[in-house]
Amino acid sequence: MKGVIFNLLESLVIDRFGDEIMEEIYEKAEFSADAPPFIGPETYPDSDLIAIVSLLSEKSNLPVDDLIYEFGKYMLPVLADKYPVFFQDVESPIEFLKSVNDIIHVEVKKLFDGATPPLVTVANVNQNQAEIHYASERKLCRLLEGLLEGTADHFDKNISYHHKQCMKDGFDDCILNIEFNEPVPR
Ligand code: HEM
Repeated sequence: MKGVIFNLLESLVIDRFGDEIMEEIYEKAEFSADAPPFIGPETYPDSDLIAIVSLLSEKSNLPVDDLIYEFGKYMLPVLADKYPVFFQDVESPIEFLKSVNDIIHVEVKKLFDGATPPLVTVANVNQNQAEIHYASERKLCRLLEGLLEGTADHFDKNISYHHKQCMKDGFDDCILNIEFNEPVPR
């Protein structure tokens, strides 16, 4: 995973839990590379990210999956601030979500050498519903759920979703049915 994601996780730990917890995590974590510091454009093993979240889970008594979800929710407004171009002229959550695979993550691959973002495709189902497919060896669908929630907040809309198929149960991809409380543009 790119260093830029580690840097976002560090900001979450410091903002929500404080500098001391961050330092304690770094003292205890057995990282596989010569990090920290994690540098934005560099690539680090996913296991280093999980090591940070696992230690945070021990220290906060919050489940790893809940922390990953919170990380996704935390990440979205920070990304909106850092990369406003991806939000310009985008008027709805669905329009934004549809741009992730074909625009945002394509640019991410150009910007960050060696980035391997997940597959995230979105299709309308009916007037109020869409279906999102997610596939990644990392199986970070809880991060995706947090990002979905963050997207709804960003556009000041309500979204509810049902995770109807999950990679963690052995499927090739996760499928989430998303329901909007207003008709969704195609
Ligand atoms: C401005 C918006 C965004 C930017 C700049 C961005 C950028 C990135 C970057 C740099 C990574 C790390 C890839 C790697 O290290 O190989 C990543 C991963 C990821 N992104 Fe995005 N992203 C954005 C929005 C979104 C949104 C809205 C979603 C989903 C709704 C999403 C889903 C994910 C997920 C789930 C991962 C974790 C990696 C995985 O599952 O394999 N991203 N993104």
